[in-house]
Amino acid sequence: MERWRLAPSNLDFEKDERFARVCEALKAGQLVAVPTETVYGLAADATNGLACAGIYEAKGRPQFNPLISHVESVEAARLHGVFNEDAEKLAAAFWPGPLTLVLPRRETSNVSTLATAGLDSIAIRVPNAPIMQALARATGCPLAAPSANLSGRISGTTADDVINDLEAHLAFIIDAGATTVGVESTIISLIGEQPTLLRPGGIAREDVEKVLGKKLVRAGTDDSAPAAPGMLTSHYAPRGYVRLNASEVHEGEALINFGSAQLAGQDKAAAVINLSTEGSLTEAASRLFIALREADKATTVGIAVVPVPEEGLGEAINDRLSRAAAPRT
Ligand code: TXA
Ligand code: MG
Repeated sequence: MERWRLAPSNLDFEKDERFARVCEALKAGQLVAVPTETVYGLAADATNGLACAGIYEAKGRPQFNPLISHVESVEAARLHGVFNEDAEKLAAAFWPGPLTLVLPRRETSNVSTLATAGLDSIAIRVPNAPIMQALARATGCPLAAPSANLSGRISGTTADDVINDLEAHLAFIIDAGATTVGVESTIISLIGEQPTLLRPGGIAREDVEKVLGKKLVRAGTDDSAPAAPGMLTSHYAPRGYVRLNASEVHEGEALINFGSAQLAGQDKAAAVINLSTEGSLTEAASRLFIALREADKATTVGIAVVPVPEEGLGEAINDRLSRAAAPRT
């Protein structure tokens, strides 16, 4: 595996000889870890079934869980998905950015059925990450990229996280430091009658509803019929338990705090990590997976987490926390 350190301010990367080699690796069906604005992605050519199989294998991911195809523009997205009026509005408002649209799959799309897990829908996103866009454009391939972590574990927001989980499977990792948004994209399905929120994420539900001029339906979180097939209840699991809405710290626990309150037992915590001392939900989202990983490193007992307000990006934060806390199967 080759690590390419790329300063986020360096937008001249296409002139670097490594850019051409990364493109070649992708076209040859190899896996490359690429930073996006949300989390690191484990990217491969979405049109290459064997390469997509490599993603599932590397992550230890159940085969039924389809992948997001990342493209460089709305025009490129139209080759793969059928846009209705709502899709047009959302793409215009939020792309490039942390929003994924689930659309009817266009029959002529060359995305591998392994990437879409055989569904007649497709998840597409134009990421706001210049390197990811440039790779899709230069290779001419939509890039299938799940979060670059082992299946069921915490998403990687730094190159070191990704290397820990996936080094043996990577041809390259492009290391641009910590990602900025820090939680995955918001996923909206435009398949049924009503636009449906499949996964809260980097764009707040309220902002999506404002653009659509209507409310989003929230998909059920019932594991027997997960709405986004990969949204199994237990996910992002650290080694120890996760205890939500904590108002005190128990022996051996690490604490994930939010805001300035001091908790009983905090001085004895295995680690204290604050998502945002100022109570900013945006800052908290960007630090969430880093905090879970740090807390996981500090203790195998468990992690106590204080309540986080269920508004704006708080919805995505609480969704991830409740999955981390869910009973493991
Ligand atoms: O921010 C993100 O979205 C990151 C970065 C790398 O782009 N990617 C990401 O991918 O989080 P992943 O694979 O970890 O999560 C994708 C989710 C899964 O829960 C999957 O089930 C759902 O998208 N999904 C993919 N295709 C779908 C489809 N056709 N219908 C419904 N859900 C779909
Ligand atoms: Mg994931």
